[in-house]
Amino acid sequence: MYIPENKISEIINTSDIVDVISESVILKKSGQNYMGLCPFHSEKTPSFSVSPQKQIFHCFGCGVGGNVFSFLMKYNSITFPESVKILARKYNITIEVGNISPEKKKILDLKEGLFRLNKKVMEYFVNLLSQGDQGQIARQYFIKRGTTDKIIKEFNLGFVPDKWDSLVEFYRKLSIPKNVAEKSGLVLPKKSGSGYYDRFRNRIIFPIFDINMQVAGFGGRVMDDSLPKYLNSPETLIYNKSRILYGLHASKNYCRQKEHVYIVEGYFDFLSLYQHGVRNVVASLGTALTQEHVRLLKGYAKKVILVFDSDDAGINAAKRSIDIFINEGIELKILVLPQDKDPDSFIMEYGKETFKQKALQALSIMQFLTVTAIKSHGNSIQGRVAVLDEMKLYLSKIQDSALRSLHIKELAEKLNVDEKAVLEKVRNEHLSSMERKPFLINADESTIDGINEIHESVRREKQMIAMMLQYPEIHKEIKERKVLDFFYSESLKKIGRKALSFDCDKDQFLSQFMANVQTNEEMEVIASLVITDVSDVKEVYDKSVFLMKRIINLRKKKDNTLTKKIKNAEKNCDSDVFELLAKKQNEIRQLHNEN
Ligand code: UTP
Ligand code: MN
Repeated sequence: MYIPENKISEIINTSDIVDVISESVILKKSGQNYMGLCPFHSEKTPSFSVSPQKQIFHCFGCGVGGNVFSFLMKYNSITFPESVKILARKYNITIEVGNISPEKKKILDLKEGLFRLNKKVMEYFVNLLSQGDQGQIARQYFIKRGTTDKIIKEFNLGFVPDKWDSLVEFYRKLSIPKNVAEKSGLVLPKKSGSGYYDRFRNRIIFPIFDINMQVAGFGGRVMDDSLPKYLNSPETLIYNKSRILYGLHASKNYCRQKEHVYIVEGYFDFLSLYQHGVRNVVASLGTALTQEHVRLLKGYAKKVILVFDSDDAGINAAKRSIDIFINEGIELKILVLPQDKDPDSFIMEYGKETFKQKALQALSIMQFLTVTAIKSHGNSIQGRVAVLDEMKLYLSKIQDSALRSLHIKELAEKLNVDEKAVLEKVRNEHLSSMERKPFLINADESTIDGINEIHESVRREKQMIAMMLQYPEIHKEIKERKVLDFFYSESLKKIGRKALSFDCDKDQFLSQFMANVQTNEEMEVIASLVITDVSDVKEVYDKSVFLMKRIINLRKKKDNTLTKKIKNAEKNCDSDVFELLAKKQNEIRQLHNEN
């Protein structure tokens, strides 16, 4: 093990899963547990549950679950040791590094080295901005753009002069190893000969922070009209464009407070809104919004206002991201600014209040689609027919019939056509889309008898394990009766055996046991089993004994009848029946493996 066991226990005992998950998911108390929208799958009603008593989470919708470590691992796509480190840092627990597989250690060290290096590079760029004649051009540029010193400081904005080797030199002075230097993406190997040159030259610099406040990458802008206007760090071990939103590290608490967030495109759009006190904002940095972005944001706000440039590129970008928001169940509004204005130039010119006024006029998805369709097809008769044809696709997808008819009415009025005609188009579209869909097979009820019985048994076995994990008091009884030997499900049996052999103080049993679970699948099964309460100890005891007896008796009975039937069939040379029974036995065996 990489991290000493006692440290893991210490973290388990100190950390609070509600505290940790609340940083990325909005949780509301509901009975004993907390509920929220699952960050791991698309949903509109909360089925993601967190139990403070058991220190576990489980999603009733998609089945993910586990303890505080598994949450961090899944949410941040990181390894176990990394999740341990995050928690240790959060709760001020020091850990010494022990053994770890050499490959993993190499990657971890590299990532950490890159974060450390980026921080130093950031400080270097910040320094270059504040000092000397060279920094003067950049300071002038920020003044021209109206960026205040406070913002420059808070976001650690910097500058790199017009040289090919500022960073190369800096790296040399720090004796940065070659592989780290290359993996940072900030210096590039020269095409001819040996040596490196700087990626960013003569640019103002924007460090890009991840949600854990670490510098993941950089962006740089020229100070004149030369091209490319912006350059960004390439994807590296620590910089993943589709997961990082610029500014979220600083704005997340404001997003929580306001319950909505503005998404803008550029660095300056973000900084100017923030500077004017519109702090619930993030920037997508010109890249297309991904599902990961939206899921990340979901943890901080329920509603998103997309503020895109009113040019075609902006409109198309907004259109492309609509489906992502619908799928993620996030309310989306789209704010189209007047021609030739972006959020930065708008708020710089008109100020915060006018921006907020304007934001109130943000369009709903349907309004936005209608407006853009009308804009592109025009208001002639053919134009309006084309608008109708475009809109029927969207309208037919609206599930809520009341909402759908409202939109149909609105569109009919807007286009000045008969509502019935719109309705008819939408209905036809709906019908033909139904025909395009393949048949849905009802995979539910299996007709082979016996299978449902097995399902029932496995359900009982699950209940048994749930009790075992929450009430170690019953372990003795389970051992004595050898209940696990009668389980159909091999995987549940395995968990049960582990639990029986796990020696630990009963108050801490569940959390310590979970800390020792090796596989993700097992973690999820366990979390799903223990998320729902099973009454108090005394009641559990009686119930569990009853359950034990049932599991044992039913299994014995079933095995007896099946074996008897097979024996009979063999004796009577009834090959048909024999075959059928053997088949059934096989099916049952397969079922064990699945459960
Ligand atoms: P824009 O071209 O809309 O520029 O790009 P902007 O943000 O308004 O820039 P200013 O106001 O002229 O300084 C929007 C965003 O797209 C990314 C940048 O993140 C930029 O902020 N971008 C743009 C690039 O990555 N590379 C480019 O060459 C241009
Ligand atoms: Mn701009």
